[in-house]
Formats: sequence, C-alpha cells, structure tokens
Amino acid sequence: MAIRRAAVIGAGVMGSGIAAQIANAGVPVDLLDVPAREGTRDAIAAGAVERLLKTDPAPLMHRDNAKLIHPGNTEDHLERLREADWVVEAVVEKLEVKQALYARLAAVLKPEAILSSNTSTIARKALAEGMPADLARRFAITHFFNPPRYLRLLEIVAPADGPGESLRAFADFADHRLGKAVVWCKNTPGFIANRIGAYWIQSAALAAVDCGLTVEEADAVMGRPLGITKTGIFGLLDLVGLDLQPHVDESLARQLAPDDPYQALRRDWPLFERMIAEGYTGRKGKGGFYRLLREGGGKRREAIDLVTGAYRPLQEPRLDSLAAAKAGLRALVEHPDKGGRYAWRVLSGLLAYAAHVAPEIADEIAAIDGAMRNGYNWRYGPFELIDRLGAGYLAERLAAEKRPVPKLLRDAADAGGFYRERDGRLEQLAYAGGWRAVERPAGVLLLADLKRGRKPLAANGSASLWDIGDGVACLEFHSKMNSIDPDILQLLRQSLDIVATQKLAGLVIYNEGENFSVGLNLGLALFSANLAMWPMIEDTVAQGQAAYKSVKYAPFPVVAAPSGLALGGGCEILLHSAAVVAHAESYIGLVESGVGLVPGWGGCKEMLARGSLVARGRGPMPPVASAFETISLAKVARSAAEARDLGFLRPGDEIVMNRDRLLAAAKAKALALAKDHRPPKPAELSLPGPSGRTALMLAVDNVVRLGKASAHDRLVAESLAEVLTGGASADPLEPLPEDKVSALERQAILRLIREPKTLARMEHTLATGKPLRN
Ligand code: NAI
Repeated sequence: MAIRRAAVIGAGVMGSGIAAQIANAGVPVDLLDVPAREGTRDAIAAGAVERLLKTDPAPLMHRDNAKLIHPGNTEDHLERLREADWVVEAVVEKLEVKQALYARLAAVLKPEAILSSNTSTIARKALAEGMPADLARRFAITHFFNPPRYLRLLEIVAPADGPGESLRAFADFADHRLGKAVVWCKNTPGFIANRIGAYWIQSAALAAVDCGLTVEEADAVMGRPLGITKTGIFGLLDLVGLDLQPHVDESLARQLAPDDPYQALRRDWPLFERMIAEGYTGRKGKGGFYRLLREGGGKRREAIDLVTGAYRPLQEPRLDSLAAAKAGLRALVEHPDKGGRYAWRVLSGLLAYAAHVAPEIADEIAAIDGAMRNGYNWRYGPFELIDRLGAGYLAERLAAEKRPVPKLLRDAADAGGFYRERDGRLEQLAYAGGWRAVERPAGVLLLADLKRGRKPLAANGSASLWDIGDGVACLEFHSKMNSIDPDILQLLRQSLDIVATQKLAGLVIYNEGENFSVGLNLGLALFSANLAMWPMIEDTVAQGQAAYKSVKYAPFPVVAAPSGLALGGGCEILLHSAAVVAHAESYIGLVESGVGLVPGWGGCKEMLARGSLVARGRGPMPPVASAFETISLAKVARSAAEARDLGFLRPGDEIVMNRDRLLAAAKAKALALAKDHRPPKPAELSLPGPSGRTALMLAVDNVVRLGKASAHDRLVAESLAEVLTGGASADPLEPLPEDKVSALERQAILRLIREPKTLARMEHTLATGKPLRN
C-alpha cells in the first residue's frame, strides 16, 4: 500500500517537524491538535505551521511545502483521517491520553491504514492494550529524532508477530520518501539510540563535574577527538532542552532492571535541577550551559561554571590531552591530565555498556552503530569506537581495573575486533560467535562498500576514480573538505580520458564526505597570490575552465551527485554536468563574491546560458539580472528544492531523499542518459553590454549609498557586472560565443585577486569558515 495521504496528531515540537518532513516528501498531511481555547479552533496546529516557516534550521525544504500541511483540530476534523494511509500520533507522553486518542481513531481509520506512535519511552504493548485486534496488528512505534528533517534515524517497533504488509510498505516509504535510515527495534526501554544515548548523556555530564572539567573542556574532549557529536555533551543538552532529560531518565530507570548499569549512574545533580527550575533549559529557554548575551549591538557567549553555577565569559579549553588525541583514541585515554582521565571514564563506561546491552536491544551490532550515527550524529558508533580503541585493550584495561568485562567484548577481544573485511565485504561479529555480513537495504549502493578490497582505476592525493560496475565510473574527491585543487582538476581530466578510451557508459561525480565540495582550495590560491604568482593563478583558472568544459562536452554523460555543501567550484561542476542527481540535503551556491572574487570556472557563463533558455524572447537583460542577483549576493540554497528555484538545478535534475540511495540513483541516471547521449551545442549568448552594466551598477550604487555595501563590495559587483553583461564591446544583436565569457571570467579574477581586501577576505574565510565584510 502506498502512502498517499498522512496525518499527524499533536502539533508540538515533534508532530510539526514530522508533518514538515512528510510535506518535504510531497505528500499531503493533516496536522491536528486539540481545539484552542483562544482564537480559532485550529489555532494550535495553524500556529505550528507558521512557526515551521520561521524556524532555523528550516524544517521545510521549501516554503511552498507548507501548503501541503492542513491544520485542524481533533474535535472537528477527525473525519479527515478516513483518507489517511498512515496516522502518526505525537501528543504528550502520557499513556492515558494516547490510549484515549487511539480509541477515537479506531472508529475512523480505514481498514489497511497504519497507526503509529512517536513515543520515546512507552512500551508498544502498553499502548496497544485495549485496542481492537485488527488495529493492533497495524499499530507500530515510529520513533523519529529531533529535528525530524535532519536526523536520519527512524526506529520502528513492529507488533510482536512481526510487521505485516502495510507496515513493511510504510517502512519502504520512510526509507525512500522520508529519507530515513530505518532500524527495526525490539520493544525494549529507550529502544536502541536513547538506551545508549541516555547512558552517555548521564555519564558524560556527571563525569565532567567529578573530573573537574569546565563545560568547554568537556565539550572539546567529546567533540572532535571522540567524534561523538560536534556539539559535545553540554552543547547537545542545550540544543535538545535540559527539561527533556528528567522524563527520559525517570522513564528509563522505571523500566530497566535494578541491576542494569544505568541505574548505578543516576544521582541528584542540584545545579541541573536548579537550571531547569529557573528556566535555563537551553537554547529554547534563557540559556543553558552556554548562553548568548546581546549587549550594545554586540554578542557575547558565556558558559556556566559547573562548581559555582555562575555564568562567566567563555574560556578556550587548554588541555595537553586534546593535542595528544591527534595521535589516536588510545593516546587520549592514556593521557594523565584531567581530559585524558575524563575521556577514559566516559568512554570505558559507555563502550562496556553498549557491549553489555547489545544482545538485548538489537539483532546485530551494526544496527546499534548505525542508530548512534544517524540518531545522535556520532561520527562512529560504539562498536566502531571499540575497534578504533582496540577490543583487547579495552577488555584488558577494564579487567585490570577490576570492572566487569561483558561477554561480547571478550568475544571481540578474542576475534580481533567487531568488524573485519573479507573478500571485499564488511563483516560483523555475531552474538553467537562467527562473522556475518553487514547487509544494506535492497537498492542501496555505497562507495565505501564498493571500494573495499579493490584498487581505483586512477588516484592521487585529492581524488580517486572507481569502477562502480555496469560500465560506470565514479570520481571521488577526498581532499580536505573536498576543496578543489590542481590534483582534483588533473584527475578529473584523466577520468574523462579513461571513460572515453575504455568506452565506458558514463561518469558519476560523487563522494561520501560530509560535503560534496566547498570549492576552490583557498589556501593554495592565497599562497600563490601572496607570492604574486599571477601567471600561475591565470593558469589554474584556465585549467579549471578547460576541465569543466570537457565535462560539459564529454561524449558520454557526466552525472554529478552532491550532498551537503556544493559551493563555488563545487557548484560549477554541477552546472557543467549533463545531469545532476542531488541529495535533498544539498546546499548549493556560487559564493565567490564572499571572498572578493567572481565565479571563474564557468559559473557565470553557465548561469547566463541557463537563464537565457528560460527567458528566451524577453530580451538580454532578465537572465543577466537574475544571475547577477544570485551571484553577487552569494545566495546559497538551503535544500535541493531551493537550488531549483535559484537555477542551480534544472527541472530535469533529480532529487533523492535518502542519502544512501544517491549513488544508485546517479548511476541509474548515467546509464539511462548513455543510451542516446549527445553533447550539447556550444551556447551563443546575447548579452546587453555596457548599457546593461550601467543599469546593474545603478542598483548597486544605491545599496552602497545606503551603507549596506562597502566600496570593495562595489568593486566585486562591478567586475561581476562586466562579465555577465559581456564586456565593453558586447552588443545584444551579436551573440557572443560562450568562450568569450570564460575569458572575461579570467580577467575579472586576475583583477580582483590583486586587491588586498580580496586577500583579506580569503584569509578570513580560510581561518574562520565565514565571510568577512570589508
Ligand atoms: P510537545 O509538548 O511539544 O507537543 C505535544 C502536542 O500534543 C501539544 O501541541 C499538545 O497540545 C498536543 N496534544 C496533547 N494532547 C493531545 C490530544 N489528546 N490530542 C491532540 N493533541 C494533543 O511534545 P513533543 O516533544 O513534540 O513530543 C510528542 C511525542 O514525541 C511524545 O510522545 C514524546 O515522547 C515523543 N518524542 C519527543 C522527542 C523530542 O525530542 N521532543 C523526540 C522523540 C519522541
């Protein structure tokens, strides 16, 4: 059964976020809450939809998606649910309230509809009590993580006798359309992620106090070195809300056996209780472990002192163990300073707990690692962390400290770890001993899997070319933040040659980094500029232009498949590809003006070419004005859907919701296009010339006069206007070959990169990742 219409009951934090993600999938959804006492009767749900449009980071991938959400209330609109294929309940965490609601829903749901609860702590069995048997068979727990758009994990608890056909169809929908990493869970307290996560939160927060760390120090240890979450422990508590913790904690403690190691961790923490009582519940409250103060037009961050409970200015964490951690996890946990002691205390407890509870909560360890990565944003799951630390090392050190060593950990110590590679496949240790394959859902293709035990067709320090089967090759970037450097350009050219000479069907440009590419390697460009190596810079620009042009005119289809940031030179690759298959979470933009430059690898040219196709017959100015606006304001789309609006994606480019299905979709696209691929004809552009440039600069001068843009902004805008209008000799009646625009791009770059203020911008962005306004 397909999910064509859905409904969410409860328009709070989770319900509205889930409704937004359903709308992001293009599915109409009713969002019902109780009737409001003030205003219209639908005011609660309607207000939630309004908030969705204002929340940052945005729950909606496109503003128009809000139109798919139909607010209502549970007194007047229950009838609407007759149409729903799936109804998810996300009301307050109270058993009686939920059960009373189900009793009313039983009367309206159609016979094959799925009913699910988003509960995080109540057992499925308790919720299903008293339900008509027919409905109970279709009742599941679907546990989303906050925020539902951005956290990929979806835990599903099926009825005891397994999922029926409708529930399996729903899981398929959640995977393909909602983009979720679906994990089937057993009906155990906290399911998988919160069971491990709650243990980690308790231990990481309390151990910071016991080991005498500051908030900043604890977060620095938990953040990068352990890779647990970027925010660290206290940053995370602020983000999710301190007040949520006591509920999760009490409910877990109530349901877990008295000898569960979680029970021994719990203790009163007066500072934490006081913070909640006084409204310091985190970012949504008056602040939390950190707070942001706005004073005299400026902003200042403070952190709480864990001993005195008073706020004080932020302190840079300085721990020798943080530097030592660069040599690996073991160097960190063996470091004698308080950071090292803290890391060992938290990690040893957490990892031992994970090994202790694994057989109870999941069928296999890979499910637990996946849940922690996708639900808590950990870089590695607990068993992956054990392998990094060494299972034998962890078991021995626990034993030496006279602490219990779980059987599963002992087995892993004997087996040499939890994971291994055999015949190019990833295998995991099974509970019963022996190894079993780590299976991916049907149709999922991961480059990480394809690479195992194989050699690339070609490679250098920044990129590799892989054979991904069926005559398709995949170019993978792996430079720092996948920034584009001469090595990448070299391998791009080589890849095009290899695909052509080996007569392969097509090339996919894809990687599994957090970001597709942040664009030009600013460090290298800055280095050349500081040494005034102008010919070299000109050469790099020309090389990039030539390589990207070869992408566009390749005799086979090149399909780019971005996820995460695709900025500057990364965006320009997309613009030159025969097709783009973008992950829905792609953030695409031409941001060169932020560093005082203009797009130089064909970005200006391609935006003009696209615009002139759309604006055909309306004269030369509309495409120029729209490209000028997008590029001069360095607009970055916050989703693939927005990238379509900005013209970075064309109507025929595909959007894929599930990150793990991106490569398969891109490969399928390349194969489909290969059947009758013909490279495009070089574009001829009708550009307005000097009169157009004057018109664009009139608007810019207004902004400068209002003090909203600097003299340097004006200079950058002027250079951009020069390129986009075709230069001094352009005439709208004499179409310009696209190569002429490329030449103008080169000139503009060489002019701007000599400017000290451009160099200052580049330096600043390199150091901070943010633009400098100068
Ligand atoms: P919330 O308090 O933000 O929202 C609950 C909403 O339900 C409110 O708008 C309330 O008016 C409405 N409501 C209460 N009784 C109702 C009824 N009988 N009929 C219709 N609407 C009713 O709560 P939140 O945080 O969104 O949690 C909802 C559910 O999701 C809970 O079961 C919670 O355990 C679970 N959950 C929460 C997570 C979180 O991070 N907040 C994460 C995962 C699950």
